[in-house]
Parts: sequence; C-alpha cells; structure tokens
Amino acid sequence: MVDMHGVGVRTPDVLIIGAGAAGLMAAFTAAQKGKQVIVIDHSPEIGRKILISGGGRCNFTNRDIKPERFISQNKHFARSALSRYKPADFLSLVEKHRIPWHEKKLGQLFCDNSAQDILSVLLAECSAAGVRLFTDVRVREISRSDKFRVETSRGTFLSPALVLATGGLSIPKIGATGFAYDVAKHFGLPIVTPEPALVPFVFGGMDQGWMHELAGVSLPVKASCGKMAFEEALLFTHRGLSGPALLQISSYWHAGEPIRLDLLPGQNAEQLVGGLKATKGKMRGPAALGRWLPQRLAQEMARQHVPDRPVVEWPDKTIRALAASLHRLDIYPTGTEGFAKAEVTRGGVDTRALSSKTMQAESVPGLYIIGEAVDVTGWLGGYNFHWAWASGHAAGTAI
Ligand code: FDA
Repeated sequence: MVDMHGVGVRTPDVLIIGAGAAGLMAAFTAAQKGKQVIVIDHSPEIGRKILISGGGRCNFTNRDIKPERFISQNKHFARSALSRYKPADFLSLVEKHRIPWHEKKLGQLFCDNSAQDILSVLLAECSAAGVRLFTDVRVREISRSDKFRVETSRGTFLSPALVLATGGLSIPKIGATGFAYDVAKHFGLPIVTPEPALVPFVFGGMDQGWMHELAGVSLPVKASCGKMAFEEALLFTHRGLSGPALLQISSYWHAGEPIRLDLLPGQNAEQLVGGLKATKGKMRGPAALGRWLPQRLAQEMARQHVPDRPVVEWPDKTIRALAASLHRLDIYPTGTEGFAKAEVTRGGVDTRALSSKTMQAESVPGLYIIGEAVDVTGWLGGYNFHWAWASGHAAGTAI
C-alpha cells in the first residue's frame, strides 16, 4: 500500500501518539506480548518532561501510592490500574537496569544520578521489545472505519488500536498540547476542563506587596483548602506563594476560595506568646515572634498584628487575636502561575467514558487514553509518573 506522500502505509497492531512516560510504558508492555508497536511524537527529542522532572533526578514513583492521593471527578477510577501496577513493579525495572536510586522523604523515590537514567530504561525496554519510534511527526488527521487512519507529516498509519498518550497542558514551551482532548472530543468523549495543578499561587494588592518583600523565606506550615490539608514547607515568591505544601493544595483549590495557613502547626501560639509575657516581657513583636518564625516573616507578622510595645504590655485579647492569625491565616489568591509553571494538569479526558481496567474508550473500541491526558491527577512526590506507568501498563496489557 502507498499513501499520498508516496510512502508505504504503515500498519502496526498498535499506534501510540506521544512518546512520554505513559506512551513508552504502554509501548513496550504491548510489544512484549508480541504486538507490533509504533510510537510517534511531534517533538524532535523524546522524553523532555522526564528529563526535567524532579529537579533533573526524576521522582519516578512513591512507596505510599494510594488511590485517594489521586484527584479525579470519578473518584475510584485510578484504583484498578494502580492495584495492578505497584511501585515495586517499577522499582524492579529500575533495579533490573542497575539504576542507582534513593528515597528522599515521604516515600519519594529519586534517581541518584540523573532523570536520563529513567528515560534510558524506557527506551531500552522499547528497543528490546521491537517498538519503532518516530520523532518530529505532525499528526494531520485521524479518522476511523474498521481501523484508525492517522495521516501525518511522515505518511499514513493504519492501526486497529490507537493510544493517546500526549499528556496535559503543563509547560507548553517543551511541547505540551491539548491534542488528546481534541481527538477525544472528535470521537465524542467528554472532557473535564483542564486547569493548572501543582502550581504556585499569585496574589494581588496588599497581599502581593508583603509577600514580595518576603521572597525566598521558607517555613513549615499546614496549608488547607476545604477538607484537604498538607503539612510541608511554604516558600514566599516575588508573585506569591509556592513550596510543597502550597503546590499540593493548589490541586484542590478553585478560584475565589481562600487558602488557610497555620504558621505554627502542632504548637499553641497563645501559650507560647503568653509564656513570653511572663519570662521575657521586655521583648517587642519581631524578636518575640522570631523565636518561632523566620526573622523577616516575624517582622511582617508583628507589623500586621501587634502594637510596637513590649510583650508585657500586650492585652490578652491582642495575644488571642495574634494566636488566631498565626494558626488561621486566611489568604485569597488571585490565581496561579498557570500552565507555564504548573507541574501537571488537573482535569482532562473524562474517565467516566473510559474502562478503568483497560483505559479503552467505552464508545470507541480500539481507542485508549492514558497518562496525564485523562482526568487523574496525583499528589506531588512521584504520584504522577506512577499514574503514567500504571495507566500505560493497563492499556499495554489489554491491547
Ligand atoms: P508526557 O508529557 O510525559 O508525554 C507526552 C508526550 O506527547 C510528549 O513526548 C510530547 O512531546 C508528546 N505530544 C504532545 N502533544 C503532541 C502532539 N500534538 N502530537 C504528537 N506528540 C505530542 N511527576 C512525578 O511523578 N515526579 C516528578 O519528579 C515530576 N517532576 C515534574 C517536573 C516538571 C517541571 C513537570 C512539568 C512535571 C513533573 N512531573 C513529575 C509530572 C510528570 O512529568 C507528568 O505527569 C508525566 O510526564 C505525564 O506523562 P505522560 O506520558 O502522560 O505525558
């Protein structure tokens, strides 16, 4: 068969669009079962997101993967794939290739050397299983009769199984696109509105003013939004707030809602300040609060919440109000830094249209959607790669 470019029409058993984490996992899993697999990607380089992940060391999974640590409008969807591909499964792959790794904190597993090691594992598995990879390929049109027909800048592909693994919208400058959403819509599948997640917050007006002055200051906090709370570090930035606690809570935040901060989690601010009144009554606000908070933040909290007089002169009601603010500081972000800075995309192809066992679209036999493109978003800490591995494995096994 010859296509309009004069190139032979390629007819793999499986065509995967997107050579990222999920696509490569699905590719070698299907190829190991004897399927002929082709993966195409529009980028000239493969796995760019893997290479920049985890500060260049790729936090490739987490020991404590639990379904409730994944956000989706279809709460239980991730359970099936996660139960069939565990952190130990990916770890055994890493160890098979003798990649040195370490556990950092909270179950997060990282490469000792470089994220390139993870990409090399995936590419080695693809190569050993006979997967063919084509980079720099533009998809022009997709249609379906008895097979999927994919017209591209490198010719025509005809395949009974099509896997969409093109990820979400985060970091467009390294090639993220809404391609999977467009193809899903073309086939009549619903989309949960994609939004930036694991993303720093920005603030306006006076809040932005005082936060800007504290850029670079970091401290352990408890950040909550609705019923969710994370106890980890907060980092002040020039535009607002970041750090793991705030990135985590951003995945649960919706525009207009407040974020509640406890700046002294696990402590009793009223007792601490009250105690100072008895023992160090001559101290003023910045020095007093500087016993528990970073100095620049202590100065700011003192400026906002206490009189410029020695602690001994502070009325009890001032101490109570200060303590309340330290434990329950409600702040209203004006937004986030958006997809340009978001680590992942919340939302995506609505999982209610997919089989949780195979990732196949219920209404379009042969169409599979995996990884970040679907409405499953993991916590910070290796959860999103684990979703890419688990969903890629589920589809690769089922095809
Ligand atoms: P992924 O984005 O990996 O791959 C999609 C592929 O599709 C890309 O190769 C892209 O070029 C291709 N593509 C896109 N549009 C296309 C089109 N129109 N035509 C053809 N090809 C197209 N997670 C984690 O668990 N631990 C971590 O340490 C980090 N660190 C991290 C750092 C940073 C800076 C970011 C931005 C993200 C992370 N993540 C992370 C998140 C993690 O990288 C992400 O969830 C996975 O890479 C998603 O895997 P996918 O395979 O679904 O998409």
